[in-house]
Amino acid sequence: MVQFKSILLFSLIGAAVSAFPPSKLPGCGELDIIFTGLPPYHPLVIQQGFNASAVDAGLRHDAADIVKAGYNLRGVVLMGPEQDINVLAKQTNGVRWDGTGIGYGVRGSHLEDLTVRFGDIVQLYRDKAPQAPILFDYSPVTALWAIQRRFPLSSNCTKSPGKDLGFEVFCDVCAS
Ligand SMILES: *[C@@H]1O[C@H](CO)[C@@H](O)[C@H](O)[C@H]1NC(C)=O
Ligand SMILES: *[C@@H]1O[C@H](CO)[C@@H](O)[C@H](O)[C@H]1NC(C)=O
Repeated sequence: MVQFKSILLFSLIGAAVSAFPPSKLPGCGELDIIFTGLPPYHPLVIQQGFNASAVDAGLRHDAADIVKAGYNLRGVVLMGPEQDINVLAKQTNGVRWDGTGIGYGVRGSHLEDLTVRFGDIVQLYRDKAPQAPILFDYSPVTALWAIQRRFPLSSNCTKSPGKDLGFEVFCDVCAS
């Protein structure tokens, strides 16, 4: 009985992870993902103790890997809390997003204004793309992990990568 329960639990967890049943996994270039986070050279990134140039390299590398892995990515839309939330709203327009992501710099912050912004982004994604699971990474280089966990693809996309839908930085206060 105990074994049965754990098998059941395991299969329920398994079912919850992927957004598609195993027989209908999406193919290369079929999913549109948008991810937002803080710009690497934003004062709030530096103030939180991150190495800005390492974050910048990590984000760009992760974004390239996501496209190589077969996902269409508008990512990352990078902006600090001083930018109007409508900047992100505009970036969400015109595409029916399959997944929406929020970077760790916003989610993991101990700062009041970033926590407010985190809540505003969640609400915006719910309004603009209610069908899309919201994805969370845990570092500058784990957006690919967050996407693959939720959206495994049906094949290896090395030979047919996704589309780069833009890497946008909106920042007037950044050091670089
Ligand atoms: C920050 O990261 C860059 C690039 O990875 C590295 O060259 C540099 O030594 C790091 N700086 C500090 C203070 O750790
Ligand atoms: C996909 O295929 C390439 C070669 O075409 C290989 O190098 C890579 O390891 C494969 N990736 C996975 C996840 O199997």
